[in-house]
Amino acid sequence: MAGYLSETDFVMVEEGFSTRDLLEELTLGASQATTTEMELVQRIGVPASKIIYAHPCKQIAQIKYAAKHGVQLLSFDNEMELAKVVKSHPSAKMVLCIATDDSHSLSHLSLKFGALLKSCRHLLQNAKESHVEVVGVSFHLCSGCPDPQAYAQSIADARVVFEMGAQLGHRMHILDLGGGFPGVEGAKVRFEEIASVINSALDLYFPEGCGVDILAQLGRYYVSSAFTLAVSIIAKKEVLLEQPGREDETGSVPKTIVYHLDEGIYGLFNSVLFENTCPTPTLPKKPSTEQPLHSSSLWGPALDGCDCVAEGLWLPQLHVGDWLVFENMGAYTVGMSSLFGGARTCHITYAMSRVAWEALREQLLPAEQDGDAEGVCKPLSCGWEITDTLCVAPVFTPASIM
Ligand SMILES: Cc1ncc(COP(=O)(O)O)c(C=O)c1O
Repeated sequence: MAGYLSETDFVMVEEGFSTRDLLEELTLGASQATTTEMELVQRIGVPASKIIYAHPCKQIAQIKYAAKHGVQLLSFDNEMELAKVVKSHPSAKMVLCIATDDSHSLSHLSLKFGALLKSCRHLLQNAKESHVEVVGVSFHLCSGCPDPQAYAQSIADARVVFEMGAQLGHRMHILDLGGGFPGVEGAKVRFEEIASVINSALDLYFPEGCGVDILAQLGRYYVSSAFTLAVSIIAKKEVLLEQPGREDETGSVPKTIVYHLDEGIYGLFNSVLFENTCPTPTLPKKPSTEQPLHSSSLWGPALDGCDCVAEGLWLPQLHVGDWLVFENMGAYTVGMSSLFGGARTCHITYAMSRVAWEALREQLLPAEQDGDAEGVCKPLSCGWEITDTLCVAPVFTPASIM
């Protein structure tokens, strides 16, 4: 055993100490030690006044963290959450998160988050009675929403909630449009199309000069296109599709090639689970038109039948050690897998053209010299936009290999 086990591998407990005692100690420590996203954001210089703690279901330890660090804006969508905030952060200002019509979205977040319109008056009343001010409304149309009209409907719903709030004496001045904006070229619905629907709805329900600040929580829009993932094939085999009636005209049974990758749906490809996507690789070397294509599937390293990254692909014959390249892998990949406790095994290389770096440095330098904390967090957005704002030729492709 020597060499395998050492005293430092264990928490030493005294005689009579039960598993329940240990759990109590561990869970208490875990919630107090939580590294929060708020901490991360503040560390890069974002002032507390610009942070909304937007998760409608919060840990009490994190509500206390918000109170201690001056984060005043918090979201809620139910009475219980409001009561938690009243108790742990009585000076908080609340944003009421409303449910959306996400029946066309890839995943249905409204089952989990967002107050129904019919509950809003009651919640606003409850906040008033608890002496908590509700200063705005938010919604989040789940990612991959193919119907831009859903944004217009949510904005119209928000208007109704603003009216209710005003009747009850809440001074509401924030409308938070959430996320869900596509971050890749060739998305089913283009960003510009969504923006146009949103602008028309805002003109109607929250016209300019109405005193409402409009904001959004862009996620994938900023980061999807920023990362390219390269994964190698670690094993391969041919599998006969031996179901009855599967023979072709020549009587031979069709085959599929199963490739094993060192990443799967429990790691960087978790968007397959999360959003039902089918990642399609490109090959570093373009295959010639004469190369025959074979029915192929890609599998992750987990020893279960669910870890399927992609099926039904037609690829040329590939070999162990070949690399497959997946574009637009910046959102819901590394972040999600580490969020759910996955070990970060991938290597990330950040790349930027010198021209872009020089232009970026010029933008950042004055803020760094002033020590102006707000200046430091100028919005640096996705590659396409940076090239526009910085007036440099679009040579900046923030393609990184993870
Ligand atoms: C409340 C909220 N806002 C914004 C986002 C970002 O969404 P997206 O990456 O689709 O823009 C999320 C993602 O889960 C979210 O839960």
